[in-house]
Amino acid sequence: MIERIKETADFLKKTQPLQPKTGIILGTGLGGLVKEITIEKTIPYHQIPNFPVSTVEGHQGQLIFGTIKGKPVMAMQGRFHFYEGYTMQEVTFPVRVMKLMGIETLIVSNASGGLNPDYKVGDIMIINDHMNMFGTNPLIGKNMNELGTRFPDMSEPYSHELIAKALDIAKKESIELKQGVYVGTAGPTFETPAEYKYFRIIGGDTVGMSTVPEVIVARHMNMTCFGVSIITDSGVPGHIVEISHEEVQQVAAAAEPKMTKIIAELVATI
Ligand code: HPA
Repeated sequence: MIERIKETADFLKKTQPLQPKTGIILGTGLGGLVKEITIEKTIPYHQIPNFPVSTVEGHQGQLIFGTIKGKPVMAMQGRFHFYEGYTMQEVTFPVRVMKLMGIETLIVSNASGGLNPDYKVGDIMIINDHMNMFGTNPLIGKNMNELGTRFPDMSEPYSHELIAKALDIAKKESIELKQGVYVGTAGPTFETPAEYKYFRIIGGDTVGMSTVPEVIVARHMNMTCFGVSIITDSGVPGHIVEISHEEVQQVAAAAEPKMTKIIAELVATI
C-alpha cells in the first residue's frame, strides 16, 4: 500500500512543479473555489497511477495544482464516497498521497442535513468536531507505521487555530457562520425521521455522507484539518421534507460564494 502511495506522489511531483502545503477537497459547495485558483496544471484522475475514478453526479474527477492568492495548493475536484462502492482505503487514498507530497493542511467541504433546530437551509457551519457513524474506520487493518501511530489521538480533529481564523474572516466579511458537530454516515439513503432524531440526540448538528474518513486519515498523519458544511436540507422534526440530490446541489450552489470567500481568505493565511 505505502509503495502505491509513494508511486502516485512521485508521479505528481514529477508532473508539475508546485510544492503545495495546502490540500483542498472541493466537495459540494466549494466547486466555485476553482475560479479563485490560478491554475498551473490539471490532471484527470484516470491519468494518475493508482487513483480511483469518481462517478457521482456533480463531481468531476481531476486534480488541480495552482495558487490561491499566491499560495500553492493542490485541489481535488471530485471526491470518492464510500457509498459509491469504494473501499475506505480508496476513499482516503488521495489524502495519503497529499501527505507524501508535503501537504500539511487539509481543507474539506460538504453538504449536509441540519439537525440543530437553530440552523436554516443555506447556512454554513464550521465543523468543530465529528462523529464517525460509517460503521467502519479507514484505519482498520495493518497500521502504516511510517505514516502514523496505531491508535491516533482525535482530541482536536479540526484545528482550533484555523477555526478562529475563519471566524475572524467571516466577521470582517459579514458572513454568518454556525459551528458544530458533523455526523458522518455511509449513505446513500438520506435519513429517516427517526435517524435524524437519533443523530440530534447523540449530539450532532449536521449529518452527511463524506469528510469523516478523509479527516481520520489526515489526523492519523498529523495533518491540520479544517472543514465546512452547507446545510442543504432540514432533519429537524416538523421541517423534514422530501429531498433529492438535485436540491442539495442547488442549495449548495447558492451558498457557494460565501464559502469560497472564506476558504480563499483562509488559504491566504496558511
Ligand atoms: N443527510 C445525509 N447527507 C446529506 C444530507 C442529509 O440530510 N443532505 C446533504 N447530504
